[in-house]
Amino acid sequence: MEQFNGRVAVITGAGSGIGRALVQHAAGLGMQVVACDIEEPPLHETASLATADGGVVTTVRADVSVAADVQHLADTAFDVYGHVDLLCNNAGVFRGGFMWSTTPADWEWVMGVNVQGILHAVRSFVPRMVAQGTEGHIVNTASMAGIISGAFTSPYTTSKFAALALSECLAHDLRATQSAIGVSVLVPSLIRTGIGTSERNRPERVVDRLGDDPPEAQFVAQALVDSTAAGMEPSEVAQIVFDAIRTGQFYIPTKGSYHQQIRARYDDQEALRLPATPPID
Ligand SMILES: NC(=O)c1ccc[n+]([C@@H]2O[C@H](COP(=O)([O-])OP(=O)(O)OC[C@H]3O[C@@H](n4cnc5c(N)ncnc54)[C@H](O)[C@@H]3O)[C@@H](O)[C@H]2O)c1
Repeated sequence: MEQFNGRVAVITGAGSGIGRALVQHAAGLGMQVVACDIEEPPLHETASLATADGGVVTTVRADVSVAADVQHLADTAFDVYGHVDLLCNNAGVFRGGFMWSTTPADWEWVMGVNVQGILHAVRSFVPRMVAQGTEGHIVNTASMAGIISGAFTSPYTTSKFAALALSECLAHDLRATQSAIGVSVLVPSLIRTGIGTSERNRPERVVDRLGDDPPEAQFVAQALVDSTAAGMEPSEVAQIVFDAIRTGQFYIPTKGSYHQQIRARYDDQEALRLPATPPID
């Protein structure tokens, strides 16, 4: 997909970080944008920023882990604009800690947003995008944590490995049907966003913990806040994403270290060793 002007983009997780930057970039290219988030005030702030620059933005409050919400998002996008050309499944949340200290609700929340959120969107959007008969593109946001694993991060890492695998499977399914819909998977390294404070968006129905978080969960959340504060600007990520859509690139890393990191992982796998955790950058 090389032309963006006048086309329609749907972007989830649009209230903050990478999602907000994708909305601003898409609007700047002349796209009509449907921006979605679970958190309404920041979502409206994103829309204000993009429309102040002349963009056309429709906001939809939705929890992507709820199928009916995602169906409503798709219905709104098709009702308002008649078609959807670019779908960015970007909403995501982080939960860490030792696996044995995680609760069923920790997993329901993280897998619900990071994995089911994408699956709901695939069901609600893809058949209608295919039926349009025009070219289109889907970008799923995974993570370098979808390729390399480490301690303290099992819910997030497991969800991102799944997001990456389902993106590959979606691309294979679309290719098998000679579809004009392309797929990419974004695998960011550290980006300066609000991901370290994901708990701010955790609905009550996926809370089952009594008392404080275990110390290692607090430690890893703080480490993520500190490390992402020094990360790449989301606006740079948005530029990288749209460049990759133009060229039909499947994997979209944000740093050159990606190449060394995946080679090291596959060397370990070939040698039948537990893959090492490279330094986070
Ligand atoms: N920041 C990083 O270093 C980094 C690295 C790799 C991958 N990622 C991924 O990038 C994506 C965007 O995250 P970010 O870093 O911009 O963080 P962020 O917290 O700044 O933005 C995430 C957005 O998703 C929204 N969201 C959370 N739960 C939702 C739900 N149930 N339904 C709809 N929206 C919901 C939040 O309100 C927020 O606006 C995520 O998938 C994240 O896992 C981030």
